[in-house]
Amino acid sequence: RWPIDLKSTDWMMSGLLQPVVEALAGGKLVAVPTETVYGLAADATNGRACAGIYEAKGRPNFNPLISHVESLEAAEQHGLFDDRAKALAAAFWPGPLTMVVPRNPASPIASLTTAGLHSVALRVPAAPVMRWLASRLGRPLAAPSANLSGRISTTDADAVIADLGDKVAHVIDAGPCPIGIESTIVSLTGETPALLRPGGVPAEEIEAVLGCRLIRAAADDHAPQAPGMLTSHYAPAAAVRIEANSIAVGEAALLFGPEGLPGADQAEACLNLSPTGDLVEAAANLFSALRQLDASGAAVIAVQAIPGEGLGEAINDRLRRAAAPR
Ligand code: TXA
Ligand code: MG
Repeated sequence: RWPIDLKSTDWMMSGLLQPVVEALAGGKLVAVPTETVYGLAADATNGRACAGIYEAKGRPNFNPLISHVESLEAAEQHGLFDDRAKALAAAFWPGPLTMVVPRNPASPIASLTTAGLHSVALRVPAAPVMRWLASRLGRPLAAPSANLSGRISTTDADAVIADLGDKVAHVIDAGPCPIGIESTIVSLTGETPALLRPGGVPAEEIEAVLGCRLIRAAADDHAPQAPGMLTSHYAPAAAVRIEANSIAVGEAALLFGPEGLPGADQAEACLNLSPTGDLVEAAANLFSALRQLDASGAAVIAVQAIPGEGLGEAINDRLRRAAAPR
């Protein structure tokens, strides 16, 4: 039964995922890979199923969920897309961009999925499985990252099973997620587009399409606009120390680039996100590296500084949250 392995089969042609469609139609939870991270998916129109997502993750109810659909056309049944939103869809869908737009009053998405907001978060993922399932089900799939709330997101099936294996009807294994960091979330509900969470599409690329700068929403625990905005998030069991210049005795080391850090050869455990200094490779390795170093049992994970441009904005956002006081 565990997990359903898609890596070496022509799954679209086989009946392999038929039981998954039936489980979703029956209101069950399924772990589904996307190009960003694994998602904990349920029928977005089924309030009880979505309540199951919040419960399985231990997630505070004020954090609304992203609904995944197979196309812009499907997305328009649930959200209202102005010219800016259509331009972003044309440029980045399918892909790692989530758009928060005014809710279409005709949408059957459950109000629990959107936490009762008048807006809705929609994404057309690049990975084909989620799109295929949404299209077969004929409904959007609500899916937060498939990890326990406040913990590190999952980028492979083993990590999903470790966090949520006993709470889902199926785990679908398509191998490691190629992007490895969650989608970029842009809100188009106001006059000026806002970056709610940096992610898999660099903010600069979005600004180039929109022809304006995105407002960066301030991290504010009292009015979270996006769950990623809770200050302490993505937390391993170990404490995280960012922008380390050296590794102290007993620490685990998370390096970036070819230079290394003094003391790293003595570290409890040591991984390099990208020995060549490639931010795309570093994003893909980030969450599994944090999980691995956490498993070393070291009390502290010390992380080398990472440049802030491109995907570096999202990587540094996740690392700052992992390092935040809990
Ligand atoms: O890459 C991803 O985005 C992954 C994969 C599975 O698609 N999903 C993901 O979901 O990261 P989650 O639940 O971990 O993050 C969803 C974010 C939250 O920060 C939530 O606050 C925000 O989307 N969000 C959802 N609906 C919103 C809305 N109407 N207004 C503002 N933010 C919203
Ligand atoms: Mg998450």
